[in-house]
Amino acid sequence: MTAQRINPSILSADFVNLQAELEAIATADLVHVDVMDNHFVPNLTMGPPIVERIQAVSPVPLDVHLMISDADRWAPGYAELGAYSVTFHAEAAADPVALARRLRAIGARAGIALKPGTDPDPYLELLPEFDQVLVMTVEPGFGGQSFMADMMPKLRRFAEAKARLGLDVWLQVDGGISKDTIGIAAEAGADTFVAGSAVYGGVPEHRIAELRAAAAAH
Ligand code: DX5
Ligand code: ZN
Repeated sequence: MTAQRINPSILSADFVNLQAELEAIATADLVHVDVMDNHFVPNLTMGPPIVERIQAVSPVPLDVHLMISDADRWAPGYAELGAYSVTFHAEAAADPVALARRLRAIGARAGIALKPGTDPDPYLELLPEFDQVLVMTVEPGFGGQSFMADMMPKLRRFAEAKARLGLDVWLQVDGGISKDTIGIAAEAGADTFVAGSAVYGGVPEHRIAELRAAAAAH
């Protein structure tokens, strides 16, 4: 079986107790950090100074999800501050391949994210340029929304292209992932799972273990 990763999203954490909230997910694979600019999405979270502090204290590597416009300009800064993985939106980048190459040159894994309405076709053959594809299973912007099972055909397209091209690119899903939906995404080819409300809505360590078990069962 391919490796599976559980990446809790700190969007559902208590922002005034971030250090403790990060320590509570030490058994996770990576911590998913949602950066929103109130322009690409109708919500605002944090920018480089806070992500830099998270990077300094987090027990697990950072999986930064940039929901910001003008990704070409801003994404490299997150790689420079030491994020393990930087994912930008296809809809927000003028030149996704050039940007991914810059991120990799800085030393980060390069990810590309697709909103639910975005056609996967142009990106299938570009897969070798990326270390991760994020298929959004909600409209980006907020935690706690319902999982869109109708994104599974898109995920399967990427899983097929990954197999055909013989790549080890990670296939990530984000939005509405819980112990009840994670198996559906795993079955469609996802190996990297973001979960915000499902992890922080209970005892994080237990919730992470529960998600791992549910993902592995498929
Ligand atoms: C939504 C964010 C997600 C969010 C997921 O735009 O990208 O990472 O935190 O939250 P849940 O798991 O609650 O759907
Ligand atoms: Zn996210």
